[in-house]
Amino acid sequence: MDKIPATLIIKNARQLVTLHGPGHIGPRGGAAMSDLAIIQNGAVAVRGSRIVAIGQTASLMRTVKASRHIRIIDASGLLVSPGLVDCHTHPVFAGNRATEFEMRIMGKTYLEIAHAGGGIKATVRATRRASENTLFQNGRQVLDEMLRWGVTTIEGKSGYGLSLNDELKMLRVLNRLNREHRIDVVPTFLGAHEIPDEYKNKADKYVGLVCGEMIPAVTKAGLAEFCDVFCEQGVFSLKQARLVLQTAQAFGMKLKIHADQIHPTGGAELAAEFRAVSADHLDNVSNEGIKLLKKAGVVPVLLPGSVYLLGLKKKAPARKMIRAGLPVAIATDFNPGSSPIHALPVAMSLACVEFKMTAAEALCAATLNAAYAISLGTRIGSLSPGKIADIVIWNAEDYREIPYWFGKNLVRQVIKNGRTARL
Ligand code: NIG
Ligand code: FE
Repeated sequence: MDKIPATLIIKNARQLVTLHGPGHIGPRGGAAMSDLAIIQNGAVAVRGSRIVAIGQTASLMRTVKASRHIRIIDASGLLVSPGLVDCHTHPVFAGNRATEFEMRIMGKTYLEIAHAGGGIKATVRATRRASENTLFQNGRQVLDEMLRWGVTTIEGKSGYGLSLNDELKMLRVLNRLNREHRIDVVPTFLGAHEIPDEYKNKADKYVGLVCGEMIPAVTKAGLAEFCDVFCEQGVFSLKQARLVLQTAQAFGMKLKIHADQIHPTGGAELAAEFRAVSADHLDNVSNEGIKLLKKAGVVPVLLPGSVYLLGLKKKAPARKMIRAGLPVAIATDFNPGSSPIHALPVAMSLACVEFKMTAAEALCAATLNAAYAISLGTRIGSLSPGKIADIVIWNAEDYREIPYWFGKNLVRQVIKNGRTARL
């Protein structure tokens, strides 16, 4: 048999978490989330930017032909996993909202602060004032930190511009980050994130601007893959959200929804109606909503960081969703208001504690299922031959240590597109 040529081999991993399922396509739902397809004493071979083989070290070394410039990394005693995928973030903005953090501790709620002119609108004011270059530098620092925590792909949203020019500015920054940073960035247009001050009490008119001008301009410039909308009491109603999604779909965008976060608004049902790629937050999802998400093949993206930092009592019913067979994904929801968490492993810990997910489920949720939540499930998210070689080597022996050592960065080495990333 011809040997497979390789340029990089990582060998002797104590646990090689592959999440590979021969013949298995699609995200892992229900009980399959607990099957990480671990190879003990495992090895992975890479050629260029692609994975070419996985297996036990001894047998893989027999089937792989070393090229002249091959690099061999000995991962003896260590955990190796797919690169993490943060499938819901708001990484581009100016300023911060530390004062609101304190206001919430003193008893104000997220929506009270928002209605008093703080919240998203405070970040909008700062972001509009900032130059495109400043926003890029800010975003780069955020991504640098995410990479240090093992994240190799993110989804990133606009939504702190809320005018045609400021939304385009944010999307250009996200696209530039994708080009210039080692992390891959999937850009999402979130013009319907909040009603800007100049449209106070004229939400319908603002939705008209989003649908009539922003979506056409964003798609014409090819600046976003997804369109998202914050469907919530006092923000965008179900009816307004439907209009945004209808328009975006007509313009060929893929869809996401901030659904059922603080109040049950029927967001999950709406996501199912449109066969959105994902429905996100879902802390107040209805039983019917869960059923419809499953039927429509929508990936539920749970965001434990915002539950924790907003001190929300109602939490996404992750166990119920997994019992229903859904392929749950988790993300940081990194943003300056409800979740200033760069570290996806920290969100994994929170998912275990807040949502009672197991460590295996959390890891599946932050890799393979997260990849499917941004329509990249056939390219990334598992160590499968043919997929992109995005790999993390951890200072840990067992995958359970990732959520267990809360707040400690265990990342030892990150391989992005088959090449070592400088951390
Ligand atoms: O996902 N819920 C709406 N959007 C963000 C919060 C953004 C902000 O507060 O700046 C979220 O939690
Ligand atoms: Fe969000």
